[in-house]
Amino acid sequence: MIYKGLKGVTCTETTLSMIDGERGKLIYAGYDARDLSMNHSFEEVAYLLWYGTLPNESELQWIEEKFKTHRNLPHYMKNIIENLPKELGILDVLRTSISSVHLNSPEIPTVEDAIRLTAIIPAIIAYRLHSLGTKKFPTIRQDLNHVAYYYYMATGIDPKPELTHALETYMILTMEHGLNASTFSARVTASSESDLASSMTSAIGTMKGPLHGGAPTGVIELLNDASHSNNIKSMIREKMERGEKLMGFGHRVYKTLDPRAEALKEILQQNPKADQWFSLALELEDIAIQTLEELKPGRNLYTNVEYYAAAVMKALNIDSSLFTATFTASRIVGWSAHVMEQRSNNTIFRPNAEYIGPVPTTF
Ligand code: ACO
Repeated sequence: MIYKGLKGVTCTETTLSMIDGERGKLIYAGYDARDLSMNHSFEEVAYLLWYGTLPNESELQWIEEKFKTHRNLPHYMKNIIENLPKELGILDVLRTSISSVHLNSPEIPTVEDAIRLTAIIPAIIAYRLHSLGTKKFPTIRQDLNHVAYYYYMATGIDPKPELTHALETYMILTMEHGLNASTFSARVTASSESDLASSMTSAIGTMKGPLHGGAPTGVIELLNDASHSNNIKSMIREKMERGEKLMGFGHRVYKTLDPRAEALKEILQQNPKADQWFSLALELEDIAIQTLEELKPGRNLYTNVEYYAAAVMKALNIDSSLFTATFTASRIVGWSAHVMEQRSNNTIFRPNAEYIGPVPTTF
């Protein structure tokens, strides 16, 4: 029996997250991810995934300080970023820069190194924008928590709390999601007892693909097409008849509404800046789900998290070229937690492939 794409195959145990795809529930280490995203900070939820419990007051203070300690870009990394071809996208830059981080503990993955890799991402992005001449490199600030700091470094905009709340919700909701393609990549690399930076590099490479982390950019294209169309339904039909997938719809695990998409939709409903794109997204969602049901009956295709992620980022003036990078900036927490879990009880991943090519006549 061949399980293409390993569909339906369980190959490890985890205490990090549970997805109930039929009921649309997502649990992080015993807590409802939606509640965590509404009531806790990025650092608190990262602590939960890395240590298995929410932090007390002094632990929270510790992790917030650690995030701040690791914000600076080493000189050699600035050189790398400056010397990369201008044509490379931001995910290529993240992949290369993260692969060059000098870890404290290359043999054993640690929380300290996971923080180091997570905390450096905003400066990598800002330095790349600076080296392309798009934005001046901002002064590294120590007064902001991670998500506000990320927003400030990625946009140069002063991060008012009413702006960053929606982003923090998104970044918590996308921190962890079971054995998705990029997390699986991270775990496969970790299973060979390679180091944490190498696992993160594998994961970023997988994240880049349009069927995974690249989807929000496709969602913006879809919304743009819809905004120029006077018949959204036939536009969607034509796309599907050409065999195109509608970006932001469908999910390997959720066969009902993606709870993360629902939570983001709720946040957008409260955000006055979300008006124009959000109403278009709502209209498009209804028509698309109806058309998907007509053309792909019984496949249960609904919006996934990336659909409303695109609307959140659009409302916050985050450039569409940074959507997948923003997803990476949050998912790196889940990746590193999985690497530590993999290494704590390791078996190398080595599935089989059935050979269907020719055999020598003498065989
Ligand atoms: N648009 C049109 N048809 C779709 C879509 C879509 N977005 N998604 C699935 N389908 C169809 C498929 O064509 C297939 O039809 P068939 O039975 O006639 O062959 C059927 O629904 C099942 O789809 P699969 O591709 O087999 O489902 P799978 O679980 O392998 O893929 C995936 C899930 C990759 C997310 C897919 O739904 C997709 O490509 N969606 C668009 C890209 C996207 O939004 N990705 C972000 C996912 S969320 C994340 O990564 C955080």
